[in-house]
Parts: sequence; C-alpha cells; structure tokens
Amino acid sequence: MLKTSDDNKSNDQHKCQHVAIIMDGNGRWAKKRHLPRFMGHKEGAKAVKRIVIAAQKSGIAALTLYAFSAENWRRPASEVSFLMELLYKTIEREFTELINENVRLSFIGNWQVLPEKLVAKIIKITTDSAANSGLHLLIALNYGAQQEILAAAKDLARKYQQGDLNLEDINEDDFAKKLALADAPPVDLLIRTSGEIRLSNFLLWQIAYAELYFTDVLWPDFSEDDFNVALAQFSLRKRRYGGL
Ligand code: FPP
Repeated sequence: MLKTSDDNKSNDQHKCQHVAIIMDGNGRWAKKRHLPRFMGHKEGAKAVKRIVIAAQKSGIAALTLYAFSAENWRRPASEVSFLMELLYKTIEREFTELINENVRLSFIGNWQVLPEKLVAKIIKITTDSAANSGLHLLIALNYGAQQEILAAAKDLARKYQQGDLNLEDINEDDFAKKLALADAPPVDLLIRTSGEIRLSNFLLWQIAYAELYFTDVLWPDFSEDDFNVALAQFSLRKRRYGGL
C-alpha cells in the first residue's frame, strides 16, 4: 500500500508535512533586468534561505528543493561551475547558520560525483546537522527521477537473477525505500515557480498523490507570503487518494 499523509495524520486531513519545490525562473528574472544569468541564480540562493526560514516557521516537517537536475549538465560549462560554486558558498555560509537554528540537512540525487570540495562540504553539513530536530531540508543535486527508478528496478532485477528475491515480494513500500525521500514523510505539495507547468524529471514516484501548485512568480521573487499562499491553497484541496 502506498504511504499517504493520512496514514500518519488520520484526523488532520489538511496538515501539510512535506513540500517539494521546483525553483524555476532565475534566468528570466535576470533577463528582465538586463543582468547576466548568474545574477538570477545568486538572487535565487537568497530566496532559498528566505523560504527555508518560512518553512521552518510554518511548522512543516520537510522541504525538498530541486537545485540541480541530472539534465542541468547540458548548460554552458561556465553556468554549471557558477552553480557549483554558489552551492558551496551557500552551504558554507547560509546553511551553516540554518543548522544552528535546528534545521537538518540531507542531499538527494547522485551528488557523490560533484566536485570533490562540494562533496566534502555536503558530507560535513549532513553529519553536523544529523541530530537536529527542526525542519528537514533536502536538497536535490544531480537528481533525476527516471534515473533513480531505473537504478532501483535494476537492483531488484539483479537480486531476482541471483535467486535472492521472489516476484511476489516486490511491493510499492519496498520499492519506495530504494528511492530518495524514503526517510521523509510523503510529499504533500509540489510547487513550481515561473509559470512552467511540467515536472522536469523531479520525484516522479514520490509525488504520485501530491497536490500540484504552479505560480507565475519567478523563483528569486518568491516570498514568504507566496509560500504561505501555496500552503493555504493546499489546505483547501480535497485529497481522496483514489477514493470518494
Ligand atoms: C532554474 O532557473 C534554477 C536552477 C537550474 C538552479 C536552482 C538554483 C538556485 C535556486 C540557487 C542555488 C540553490 C541552492 C540550494 C543554494 P533557470 O536558470 O532554469 O531559469 P530560466 O528558466 O528562467 O532560465
């Protein structure tokens, strides 16, 4: 059976526990101001801090942010290296402050192949914040949903081939445990900024029952109020999980 928020909070149907965000529109934000694209990313990093604080205040348990997709390597090398450096600096300065505010940090995706210096930073901040009990902040880096689903399927196929697995023993719960976010509550709300209405290979399995919220606001402009409007919209949705 698929895990749903209702399993965790049976009489609190509208409580949002986990929000995931596709942070889009940094480039357009910069273009509108005749600035280079990297300025949009810099401003986007400020929005990250703002929204993490807003999320912590709102009392949700987890926030997952799509910071770099497995497809983002197709961007010019100069933009990719700017993003890597920005991530490093943001972890070092901003996230270190956040973990002093009891935020727990984790990373999902194939981040182990990123520049060595960034990988070391990721390992350190993950370890340093592991015992924090506040908001669980998950950053998706070099993440692709199709890639992780395929890897999980191959792993099961290998076990089956070796005779270590029966077909009847494969179920949704065990499959989900092989994917990102296995240790977080189910995603209740997925937000995408900038007016694009697509999922871009983000959490395809994990958002099976999430409510989707699209806004025209560009990510660098996304405010605490915008975040709270999305949460308010969520609370008005009727979630039926396929039932009546
Ligand atoms: C999408 O905007 C944004 C990204 C690919 C990068 C997201 C990165 C940040 C928000 C900054 C750093 C993040 C962290 C976690 C510190 P786009 O460049 O695709 O915008 P466009 O569609 O308008 O060109």
